[in-house]
Amino acid sequence: MQTSKNWIEHFKANALQKRVNWDLNPHITRKEIKTILPSLQAWQLGETSEGKNLIMASTRYAERIGDPDYVNAVKLFIKEEQKHGNNLGHYLDSINKPRIKKDWGDSLFRRIRYMNTNMETWTLAVIVVESTAQYFIRP
Ligand SMILES: [Fe+2]
Repeated sequence: MQTSKNWIEHFKANALQKRVNWDLNPHITRKEIKTILPSLQAWQLGETSEGKNLIMASTRYAERIGDPDYVNAVKLFIKEEQKHGNNLGHYLDSINKPRIKKDWGDSLFRRIRYMNTNMETWTLAVIVVESTAQYFIRP
């Protein structure tokens, strides 16, 4: 069974992993860039959230279930997401495309997240988004 302490160890170990070799030049055509750029930029923006509302929801949840480590696990999860955002930003830099500051989909998703205070709903949304990301990021 996974516990909050296990997740804390997982995220700490994962934070030390450097899986991307930034010395390699990206192999991508102009046509491919045109196809994926809006999604890539929106995803990069989405992965840089501070996660304030998620921390608030997880704090309430941790109090309810009596698991103070839960909040620290969630904070490390947010850091890991920010690492994804930094990697996506670095990739945008490497193909000479800008990072964006605003996207309608991201704004909508942030508003929905802001209204959501339920940890179970948060978890479901995160699982859907991160599972979808697997299709984009992994070959
Ligand atoms: Fe992510």
